[in-house]
Amino acid sequence: SAQDVAAGERSFNKCRACHQLGETAKNTVGPILNGLFGRHTGSVEGYSYSAANKNADITWDDATFADYIKDPRAKVPGTKMIFAGIKNEQEIKDLTAYLKQFDKD
Ligand code: HEM
Repeated sequence: SAQDVAAGERSFNKCRACHQLGETAKNTVGPILNGLFGRHTGSVEGYSYSAANKNADITWDDATFADYIKDPRAKVPGTKMIFAGIKNEQEIKDLTAYLKQFDKD
């Protein structure tokens, strides 16, 4: 069904401990997620990625992100992102819609 941005914002609460979004976002435990869709793995300047993530050679789009967030360590073996994943397809769609609100800068 349709994407629900407000539900996606609630879902992003699962990510907030490690990721920031928006104008004042900074790299913390994880990299900034502004402008995620269309960018290549490991490309946020000033963030110290694992070699696994840096070299994963993935361009983030709806499909690769959905695949990743279901089981990050299956998609990127060796990643230092320790997160069980989100299995629910609708939640992933909603989270995707929410993340797309945030452009690069
Ligand atoms: C990396 C998304 C939750 C820590 C990433 C990347 C994405 C992502 C897309 C790759 C970024 C890139 O290549 O530039 C998310 C989302 C989350 C979530 C949408 C919630 C649903 C978390 C949590 C933590 C975390 C809870 C910490 C416990 C990290 C770290 C990296 C990372 C450390 C860098 C991985 C590496 O260099 O191996 N995340 N994340 N993330 N995330 Fe998350």
